[in-house]
Amino acid sequence: MYGLVNKAIQDMVCSGYSEQIWKQIKHKAEVNVDVFLSMESYPDDITHRLVKAASVILSLSSAEIMQAFGEFWVQYTAQEGYGEMMDMSGDTLPEFLENLDNLHARVGVSFPKLQPPSFECTDMEENSLNLHYRSSREGLSPMILGLVKGLGARFDTKVEITQTQTRDEDAECDEFLVIYKPN
Ligand code: HEM
Repeated sequence: MYGLVNKAIQDMVCSGYSEQIWKQIKHKAEVNVDVFLSMESYPDDITHRLVKAASVILSLSSAEIMQAFGEFWVQYTAQEGYGEMMDMSGDTLPEFLENLDNLHARVGVSFPKLQPPSFECTDMEENSLNLHYRSSREGLSPMILGLVKGLGARFDTKVEITQTQTRDEDAECDEFLVIYKPN
């Protein structure tokens, strides 16, 4: 994944814990990259190793870390130069979720090797929808819970999200029920 992702993990650990803890995590993960470059593509394995090492050092499950990371990502990208892109992607939670593929298509202009996820909203009701998540990668679904919660905070909207289908169990994709209510 692009360095932007690994940098965000670093930022989350350094702001929530300390630089010392980040060094321990990198050491445990056997990652000896001094500085991650946002626009450079790194093997996915580096990101996975960082999450695994963080899970051991912080005594949290990998799922908990990925969920926290999802929430963090929404504010991180907004403040790392992608705020305008976020602003253009919708004024409400459902509108934004429907625009996620357009958002990543725009991101792909600056990140040519991007392997973006794909999202589809179905069964849209006044306060609920089904969110379908497709990816060329495995194991990232806990991140979706955090991402959607982070978006709820962005739009001052109360959100409950539960995973209703898992690709691991032979479903065609991961699916989530999102129930929301603007404050
Ligand atoms: C302007 C804001 C955003 C930027 C700049 C951005 C950029 C990126 C980048 C660089 C990656 C790594 C993929 C790769 O290197 O191949 C990524 C992955 C991902 N993004 Fe975004 N993103 C943004 C917003 C969002 C939002 C709001 C969501 C909410 C659902 C989201 C969901 C994901 C997911 C789930 C992945 C993991 C990749 C996968 O599933 O295969 N992104 N994004």
